[in-house]
Formats: sequence, structure tokens, C-alpha cells
Amino acid sequence: MSVAEPLVLAVESSCDETGVAVVADGRRILGQAIASQVALHAPAGGIIPELAARAHLRWIVPALDEALATAGIGLQRVDAVAVTAGPGLAGSLLVGIAFAKGLAWVHGKPLVGVNHLEGHLYAAWLDPAGDGATGGPEPVFPVVALIVSGGHTFLVAMRDHLVYRLLGETVDDAAGEAFDKAGRLLGLPYPGGPAIALAAESAAGPGVELPRAWLGDSYDFSFSGIKTALRRLVEGELAALGRPPAEEGGLLPGERVAVLSAGFQASVVDVLAAKTLRAAREAGARTIVLGGGVAANEALRARLTAGAAGAGIDLVIPPPALCTDNAAMIGAAGHRRFVAGERAGLDLDARPSWPLVRPAGTPAGRRPPRRGAAGRAYEAARAAEAGGEARDRATGASPAGASPAAGRGASDE
Ligand code: KG4
Ligand code: ZN
Repeated sequence: MSVAEPLVLAVESSCDETGVAVVADGRRILGQAIASQVALHAPAGGIIPELAARAHLRWIVPALDEALATAGIGLQRVDAVAVTAGPGLAGSLLVGIAFAKGLAWVHGKPLVGVNHLEGHLYAAWLDPAGDGATGGPEPVFPVVALIVSGGHTFLVAMRDHLVYRLLGETVDDAAGEAFDKAGRLLGLPYPGGPAIALAAESAAGPGVELPRAWLGDSYDFSFSGIKTALRRLVEGELAALGRPPAEEGGLLPGERVAVLSAGFQASVVDVLAAKTLRAAREAGARTIVLGGGVAANEALRARLTAGAAGAGIDLVIPPPALCTDNAAMIGAAGHRRFVAGERAGLDLDARPSWPLVRPAGTPAGRRPPRRGAAGRAYEAARAAEAGGEARDRATGASPAGASPAAGRGASDE
């Protein structure tokens, strides 16, 4: 492969998907494999960190074999190995990192540590058609990006590659986490996001009106109020029907679940879309980018599509399969870091709470609290590992320390 079109082998194992992909030029997916653990964690209604790490160990080699076979190449053709170094579950991250280090060392390839959230963002640069010609347009700067996943929800402005200005973030739950909690409350299967979207489709009418947290002019988000409002409604309706509370298995009739799902989804989508469109207009963005698992939500996609068209701003949303966790997006972000000259050493370590960008005024080294189900699961597991003391194990992958592009590392403008 020519230097002009580097081939990156990417590994993703930060949460509950084991992914390996081969990406050319940060854009064309030559091959990829994703082993999902959804069925494994569904009975518990959430991710069990120890089970996740073991499943990554089980599936990472078959995923590599499949990705290389689909791409029709051997490892010697690869120009760099990129791996998610954080944020995510420590045990899960370590499986991918150790694996990527081994590949890089044995085959003499450069290693690049990638921030998972940067991956979600750079999924918008992937060509879903895979041939570099018929795929959607590439985002044009300035970009405003909304990243909505199970553990994170934030809005950033980008004036160039790898340069971020944080506009707003959630002050409580992540959007995906809110969907997952609402799903549990309504007795829907895990993960709640797709289940609520499906239930909402069957609702006759617009759904129950739930509050929206606008938080004044701020670009921050809050979802705990909507969740509490939904909880009160569900509790009241279950009690009126003489049924046990949701935690004890109480279920509402299907048509009520549909109407409540539609109302909940409308409330979350309304705030996400309105703030993103306002931010894009105010920042003079030419392109809006949407990423993260919740970007798979059809109602959110439709709302932003209509709003962006009305405002004359381009919109790039990856296909649903590239919105949820995958390794191709790590290849897209890894490509940018690789061509910027970034290299990680064999001391690359997991950074479970690695922020993509720090809020202005947050001292380096002080991380905002980790949020989301995965975040809490990780915190609990790590507190147990560390004898109750949660330490920051971030080392190694620090773009600021390891890179000629230090000033542009996963950093603030
Ligand atoms: O990005 P992701 O795959 O993993 C994380 O990095 O967290 O996001 C997973 C989240 C889950 O909370 C899931 O419920 C949500 O994305 N999600 C959706 C949809 N598909 C996945 N939320 C709403 N609508 C969907 N269609
Ligand atoms: Zn993710």
C-alpha cells in the first residue's frame, strides 16, 4: 500500500463489542468484524465487566482473521496498528491493547492509541459504501459534532482535524444511558435504546408529553428529569392497575409502553436536535456530524436531517452499524493520528476515563466524573480491584507526551 494511502489495522474492545477492521486512507473499510456481546449481557440488563473482558479474549483472534480475510491482505501489508486506549472498561480495554501491542511488536508496525470518542466522531469520515466513490460526502470544516453514546453525550466544534472545542456536555446521564434506564422501567429488553425506538414506532399518536431540560442558553444536556418524570408516570399507572412496581417485574400494557416510549424518545430527540442545530448556526458550521450509538436512532436522524436542510448546513450521519461500537471508526481516527505523526510506545496503557476534550478551566489530571452504565460498572470494578481506591491509571497513550503533534492531541483548542 502506498504511503499516500496508509492501511490501518484497528482494534476496538472498550465495552461490549470486539471489533477489528482494516481501513485505507482513514475512509475506505477494506474488511471488518464485530463480535457483539449483547446476548451475553442481556440477562443481567447491563454489562458485566468480567464477562466482557473474557468474551473479548475469546473473540479477538477470530475477529482479526475475519477482518484480514475480508480485506484480502496479510498483516505485513498494514502500515500501522491503531487501538482504543480509552475511555471504557479497564479489563476490556486491556485485552485490545495487549493484542494490538503484540501485533505491532511482532510485525514491526507503528502503534497508535485512539480515544474511543474520537472514533465515534471520525465514523463520519468513513465511506459506508466502501469504494471511496459512491459513499456520502466527507464533512467540511467548520464542523459541529454531537456525540451521543451509552456513556457520553457532548457537543464539540472542530475547525480542523483533531482540534476540539467543547460546547456542552451532559450534566447527569448520557443520552444512551437515559434510553437504557427508561427501557428497564418499561420492561423492555436490553439495550433500551433500540427497544424504545421499536416500541415508539407502534404508538398510535404522538406519545405522552414529558418535560424537556433546556438549561437556559447553555449547550449542556440533562436527562435525569425526563427519566424521573417517566418513572412517576409508570409507578402511578402500575399502582392504578394494581400491578407491582417496575423493579419487581410490574409491566404496563403494550399500548401504554408504546405511547410512553414515543413520549420519552420525542423529549430526548427534541433537546438533542434543537441544541445541535442552534450550536451549528452560532458556530457558522458548514457540516453537522452525528455519532455514537444513539445516532442510530431514526427519530433523531430524521429530525436533524430536516433541521440541517432547513438551515442550509450539510449533515453527515454514519449508517447505524457505524454509529454503534465498531473498529472501523477507530481506524478512521487512528489514521488521522498516524498521519499527524503520533506513535504510542509498548507502555501504552488503558485510560478508562480519558476525556476527548476537557471543559475550559478543568485542571489537567482532574477528570470529570465518569458517567453511564458502562462508566459506573467500570468504577465499581476498578474500586474493587484497587481495594476501594479508584486511581487514574492513565499513562502511555498521552498524545501530549508522545507526539510531534503534541499541541493538537486529543485536546482543547
Ligand atoms: O456508542 P455505543 O455503541 O457504546 C458506547 O460507547 O456507549 O452506544 C450504546 C448506546 C446504548 O445506550 C444504546 O441503548 C444506544 O446506544 N442506542 C440507541 C439506539 N441504538 C443504540 N439509542 C436510541 N435509539 C437507537 N436506535
Ligand atoms: Zn461507543
